[in-house]
Amino acid sequence: MKIAPSILDADFSQLGAELDSISAADRIHLDIMDGQYVPNITIGAGVLKKVKFPKEIEVHLMTLNPENFIDDFIALGAKTITFHIEATGINRAIELLKTMKTKGVQAGITLDGYTDPDWITDEMLVLADQILIMSVKSGFGGQSFMPASLLKVEDLRARGFKGEIEIDGGVTLENIKEVADAGVDIAVVGSFLMKKIPAERAAIIAEMQKV
Ligand code: DX5
Ligand code: ZN
Repeated sequence: MKIAPSILDADFSQLGAELDSISAADRIHLDIMDGQYVPNITIGAGVLKKVKFPKEIEVHLMTLNPENFIDDFIALGAKTITFHIEATGINRAIELLKTMKTKGVQAGITLDGYTDPDWITDEMLVLADQILIMSVKSGFGGQSFMPASLLKVEDLRARGFKGEIEIDGGVTLENIKEVADAGVDIAVVGSFLMKKIPAERAAIIAEMQKV
């Protein structure tokens, strides 16, 4: 299982050391919240320009109008960007996936915790490089994992989706085996990892990667 730590719960007063402590991860997951699609605000690409990330970054846009943020995060070096189809609706999501593919970034869509998987159309299954299934309601770290999200993962595989499936929210060492068994390729891990002391994080990442 690939592991992408979310730095939402990192100590931003020592971000460099926090990133060092998770450098064994496969990717670094950036949660971008705009205070409109979700009630919280986090960060934009501008303030991250000088940050040296130890691994490639993936960007999870929890914003209205995700079209406005794609170019800045590509310029920051994002390899993968996902946006919420609840924020765009189906037609705009399809257009945005097509646009992103012309820009050379891995194009992803996200389904929020309580959204029905029927929102993901067959055309999206062909266009998307990645589908991120939220296993909590987006907007906050530290929530409990929703087991029903794994049914959505199985449904996507049954419909023939060949791209990467990521799960995000409430992942721990206790549930990561069932996450892997459902067909997930990459798991976001936020508070479970970042609430541990930095010296313990590499071993936890390694244990999760073994699953
Ligand atoms: C929630 C974010 C997640 C989350 C992960 O809106 O997308 O990335 O913060 O944190 P945990 O693992 O604490 O749920
Ligand atoms: Zn996220």
